[in-house]
Amino acid sequence: MKLLVAYYSHTGDSRVIARQLELHYNGDLYCIHETQKRSRMGVRFKGASQANREEKSQIEPVSVDPQQYDVIFLVAPIWGTMPAPALHAFIDEANLKGSKVYGFFLCRSGLGSAEEVFHQWLEDAGAELQDVYTIATSEKNAKSFLEGSQQIDDILVDLSPKLYPDDAEEFFVIKRPNK
Ligand SMILES: Cc1cc2nc3c(=O)[nH]c(=O)nc-3n(C[C@H](O)[C@H](O)[C@H](O)COP(=O)(O)O)c2cc1C
Repeated sequence: MKLLVAYYSHTGDSRVIARQLELHYNGDLYCIHETQKRSRMGVRFKGASQANREEKSQIEPVSVDPQQYDVIFLVAPIWGTMPAPALHAFIDEANLKGSKVYGFFLCRSGLGSAEEVFHQWLEDAGAELQDVYTIATSEKNAKSFLEGSQQIDDILVDLSPKLYPDDAEEFFVIKRPNK
């Protein structure tokens, strides 16, 4: 099975999760880059409101073809209660027609209506949403959730039988990337 793990990350949490998924399932990793770098203040004030209005940001031209893959993982943070604008842009610009998509969202306080919105974006793109997973991060200690994180282990145990119905046990052993 060919798997693409496409992610957007501002402070690195989503990247860590994307890397872990890539390694675990032997996928290809693709980073969604915004064309303009966001400052710390800029992201706080503009980023959240852009996301909340479901805007798309400008991203570098998509240089991966999702049509070459059986399954697509999309990994991104929640901003202003919605998936980050770069993810919206990727869904709009990449050819996801007919793609089977799983969403992974990093956030501090849960998904709320972001899941419905994400579902709608995928539907508009002609993609099929398979499932959505939430990874809760803490403001103080963003990376610490990875150290022996039960959250990730639980996701992999739930996800593996969906991806590999016949030999899911093989994927229950958790391998953690060094960084
Ligand atoms: C501009 C901005 C807005 C955010 N808004 C939310 C929010 O509405 N709800 C939430 O749970 N977390 C929110 N967060 C927290 C991030 O989703 C969380 O820190 C995430 O782990 C960051 O992922 P990243 O390191 O991949 O960028 C926000 C973070 C930023 C920078």
